[in-house]
Amino acid sequence: FQNLIVTNMKLRPGLGVKVTGDILPNPQQFQINLGQDEDNIGLHFNPRFTYLTDNNTIVLNAKQNGQWEEEQRESKFPYKVFIIFEAKEFKVKLPDGSEIVFPNRLELENINFMSVANDFSFKEICRQ
Ligand code: GAL
Repeated sequence: FQNLIVTNMKLRPGLGVKVTGDILPNPQQFQINLGQDEDNIGLHFNPRFTYLTDNNTIVLNAKQNGQWEEEQRESKFPYKVFIIFEAKEFKVKLPDGSEIVFPNRLELENINFMSVANDFSFKEICRQ
């Protein structure tokens, strides 16, 4: 399946969520969002294959009260991600063994909302 919204996740600091799937043919982008609701996102994880002015770049950001904040960019290309929510930051582990850290700017105490969307077909999502 392609677009997914999860609510009432109750993900507390120290717990992670693993998302595995297939990137669709001719992808533009996909995104995984973790936060409180769709207007308050602690982690927007957005691999852009070719989207807007970006090629093969991951854009990370947070959204507060519907407003995007400042973007963080990484030159990587994942098909599977393991996101660990910590009190101070999100850690995103990629298949090549690398890790991207994005601060918990919204100071969220738990994650209740997750959405996944666009050119990605999900096979498995599990909490760990
Ligand atoms: C915007 C894009 C959003 C989101 C945001 C992140 O340009 O339309 O989907 O990716 O950047 O900063």
